[in-house]
Amino acid sequence: MSAMHKFIQALPKAELHLHLEGSMEPETLVEIDPALSLGEAQRMYRYADFAGFLASYVWAVRKLTEPKHYALIARRLLERLHQQNVLYAEITLSAGVILWRQQNLAEIYQALREEAAKSPVQVYWVFDSVRQFGVELAQTVAERAVEYAGDGVVAFGIGGDEEKGPAKWFHEVFAFTKRNGLRAVPHAGETVGPQSVWDALDLGADRIGHGIAAAQDEALMRHLRNANIPLEICISSNVCTGVVPSLRDHPVRRLYDAGVPIVLNSDDPPMFQTTLNGEYEIAARHFGFTENELRGLAANSFRYAFRYRQYPVPSNL
Ligand code: ADE
Ligand code: ZN
Repeated sequence: MSAMHKFIQALPKAELHLHLEGSMEPETLVEIDPALSLGEAQRMYRYADFAGFLASYVWAVRKLTEPKHYALIARRLLERLHQQNVLYAEITLSAGVILWRQQNLAEIYQALREEAAKSPVQVYWVFDSVRQFGVELAQTVAERAVEYAGDGVVAFGIGGDEEKGPAKWFHEVFAFTKRNGLRAVPHAGETVGPQSVWDALDLGADRIGHGIAAAQDEALMRHLRNANIPLEICISSNVCTGVVPSLRDHPVRRLYDAGVPIVLNSDDPPMFQTTLNGEYEIAARHFGFTENELRGLAANSFRYAFRYRQYPVPSNL
């Protein structure tokens, strides 16, 4: 183990942008669907572009047909987070897909809560809907999220395709969730330009999922800095889905140097052959983040967590 690897492993961390359904290892997919070969599962986790990734994500989610499948993938995920010294996680559940498939969200959420209660990791949940599935589904997800607001759900989000589901559709939905005490975490500025981040800010975003397009807009970077709204940066995700042409082109350093608050995250780790520690390591090796800067990013992960105040911020940060 290199010294940097050891340093990152030892850092206490929070994970704020992580999709439960995107966290399945190919081996777990095979366990859930024994008709699948490991090779097939691994091939499904390679894509040429963002549309290819979304298609694979939907393919993987469709393997989950019972609450016990959700419990299994949560257990595996929480084990891996604990191994990486992740103390706190806000995990996104694609509740929109569950409702769209007419599955029993109450039973699934109950199974997840039971798994989370057994883990040493402090877990909260983000319910998200899929932009391109429209506003009606999003409103239904929002209502279910509010229903569980006292029971582990802390935020509502929208993911999926920014081009096919513009922010302006979702104003009333976010107004409703915010009125009811939930925080707002839309994905934005991932596949389209800075205007999408401005539009997400108009929705009342408390954090932005990805938001890397902000690097193209000085005024937007200034605004994020002054309003103290962080970007949930997922470097490997952006490279694997082709939204940046190569690792070298990723704007993480530019955003950081401009004073934009950022947090490092893994998004859908096995789907991008990464881990949270791997993302910190990429920041160090490819973008020159020093140990002090990495410590600051780990501190950010607690600072921008919605419930971090209930826990002491780890004293070594
Ligand atoms: N769902 C899972 N991961 C996603 C991502 N990176 N962007 C949009 N939707 C997603
Ligand atoms: Zn995401």
